[in-house]
Amino acid sequence: MRDLVLPIDDGDLRLRQLTEDDFPDHTRLFSLPSVVRYLYEDVLAGEELRAHFEKRLWRGLPAEGEWANLAVVQGDRFLGEVGFGLSDATHRTCEIGYVFLPEVGGFGLATRATRATVDLCFDVLGAHRVTARLDARNHRSAALAQRLGFRREAHYVENEFVKGEWTDEVVYAVLDREWHSSQHPLPRSSKTRASAG
Ligand SMILES: CC(C)(COP(=O)(O)OP(=O)(O)OC[C@H]1O[C@@H](n2cnc3c(N)ncnc32)[C@H](O)[C@@H]1OP(=O)(O)O)[C@@H](O)C(=O)NCCC(=O)NCCS
Repeated sequence: MRDLVLPIDDGDLRLRQLTEDDFPDHTRLFSLPSVVRYLYEDVLAGEELRAHFEKRLWRGLPAEGEWANLAVVQGDRFLGEVGFGLSDATHRTCEIGYVFLPEVGGFGLATRATRATVDLCFDVLGAHRVTARLDARNHRSAALAQRLGFRREAHYVENEFVKGEWTDEVVYAVLDREWHSSQHPLPRSSKTRASAG
């Protein structure tokens, strides 16, 4: 276990607290139909966007049942956000999320930022198991989870009613020992490190 020191640097990527300056980019992110397509949120507007943004400002590591978010930036450029929650303290289960602007997709940036988030869940929050839950139609999200070596553990049929329709949910997971194994398909980047700042 280690303390969390923000920002987290991964080469040219930086995971840091959201700041007021991120509001325009964050607003754009959650205003795009293609981005929110498979999220619980619908396209947000006006005051909803403000409330949504403020909910995501950093308040420290999440307690059980809570969620925390970090902005992902490259230089001064806002790319998206990652999220992590402590779903169950007794069973040391964390959950992750990731939402990126469409124009930065396809270069492995979301994968790298999410990998650093999974590191955080294991090394800072002491998780035994990290999960990702997604709409079964969200193939890019599933591909990201698989790229990170997550195992597809469940496919629930029409278990959620989201945006006016019954949807299937897929659950991916990885265990601490699997993540840290030398057999892991995507070992941790030697460049990933926490830095003061
Ligand atoms: C889910 C989401 C983050 C995935 O984005 P993405 O662009 O597929 O992911 P990455 O940025 O990691 O890019 C992966 C691509 O880069 C490629 N790539 C290039 N270099 C790479 C590298 N060093 N490491 C990993 N992948 C790399 C991969 O092969 C992949 O290529 P492909 O698009 O041809 O399959 C994005 O679609 C998104 O934000 N969607 C909207 C919100 C959402 O649904 N979030 C998930 C909720 S569960």
